[in-house]
Amino acid sequence: MDTRETPPAPRTILVTGASGLIGSALVRRLRAEGHRVRPLVRRPPREAAEIAWDPAKGWLDPRELEGADAVVHLAGENIAGGRWTAERKRVLDESRRRGTGLLAATLAQLEHPPAVLVSASAVGYYGDTGEEVVDERASSGAGFLPEVCRHWEAAAAPARDAGLRVVHPRIGVVLAADGGALAKMLTPFKLGLGGRLGSGRQWMSWISLDDVVSVLHAGVFDERLSGPVNAVAPTPVRNDEFTAVLGRVLGRPTVAPVPAFALRALVGELADELLLASLRVEPRALEQAGFAWEHATLEGALRAVLHRAA
Ligand SMILES: NC(=O)c1ccc[n+]([C@@H]2O[C@H](COP(=O)([O-])OP(=O)(O)OC[C@H]3O[C@@H](n4cnc5c(N)ncnc54)[C@H](OP(=O)(O)O)[C@@H]3O)[C@@H](O)[C@H]2O)c1
Repeated sequence: MDTRETPPAPRTILVTGASGLIGSALVRRLRAEGHRVRPLVRRPPREAAEIAWDPAKGWLDPRELEGADAVVHLAGENIAGGRWTAERKRVLDESRRRGTGLLAATLAQLEHPPAVLVSASAVGYYGDTGEEVVDERASSGAGFLPEVCRHWEAAAAPARDAGLRVVHPRIGVVLAADGGALAKMLTPFKLGLGGRLGSGRQWMSWISLDDVVSVLHAGVFDERLSGPVNAVAPTPVRNDEFTAVLGRVLGRPTVAPVPAFALRALVGELADELLLASLRVEPRALEQAGFAWEHATLEGALRAVLHRAA
C-alpha cells in the first residue's frame, strides 16, 4: 500500500483542524494530487471551499457536507499547549468529544453520506505501558489521556452506526521541524542543553510528519483500513536513545538530563502522562496493510525533517 505512487481519482475531502500541524501538511498533499479539499473552519470562511462550523456550540449545517467523499477529522485543543489545570482538562476533553460527536451525528443524517470518516486519536489511548509492546488489540490504560482518547473514539459511533467506514489513527509523537514536540526540543538541544527526560528508559512511539500524512491518506483511500490504526514508525526508541540521536543529528552534546521532579514542577501532571510515560507501540494494522514508511528509522527521520545530511 503506497498511495504516493499512483494518486487516486480526484475526490471531495472535508478536513477539520486543517490549519494545524498535521492538517496543513495533509491539505497540501491532497491539493497537490488534485483533490477538492474543503476545510471546516471555526472562523468566518475566507474562500468558497471553506465550510463554517462551531464545534463548541454544536453548530454545523448538514447541507454543506452533502457531496463529500471522505472526511478527515483532526480538530481538537492542543494537548501539550499548557499545564493541565482542571479547566484545561475539561476543554481538551470537550473539544474532542463535542467536535467528533457533532461531526459524526451530522454525517449520519446526510442523504448521501461520505464513505469514510478518518477521525484522529492518539497512542495516549494505551496509557503508560512500560516495557510491554502494544498493538491495536491492547486495551486502554489508566489516566487522563486514555480517558480522553476513549471519549474521542466513542464519539464517532453515530457515523459508524450509519454505515461509514470509520478509521481511528492512533497517532504517536509527530516529528516536524516547525511544530509539535520536536520544535519545542530544538532550542535547548541547539544550545547544548538537551538531555534525557527522567530515567530516559521510557519508550517513545514517534512518526514523521510525511508518514502521518500518508497514514491519513491511506485511511481515506485504502478500504481495508477500519477501526484503530496505530500511526507510528515501526521502530520506537527509548527516550535516552532519542536524546542521543537528536544530539548527533544536530551535532550538539546531550549531557543535561532533566529529572522527573523538575519536569513535574515545570508542567505538572502532563509530565507523567506525556513526557515520562512509556509507550512501545507496534503499527500492526499498517504492517498488515503493507504500508510503506518513508522514514522507518529515527535517525533517517530526524535528518530528513531537520534537513541534515548523514
Ligand atoms: N502532533 C502530534 O504529535 C499528535 C500526536 C497524537 C495525536 N495528535 C492529534 O492529531 C490532531 C491533529 O494534531 P496537530 O498536531 O495538527 O494539532 P494542532 O496543530 O494543535 O491543530 C489542531 C487544530 O484543531 C483546531 N482546534 C484548536 N483548538 C480547538 C478547539 N478548542 N476546538 C476545536 N478545534 C480546535 C485548530 O484548527 P482550526 O482553527 O482550523 O479549527 C487547530 O489548528 C489533534 O487532535 C491531536 O491531538 C497529534
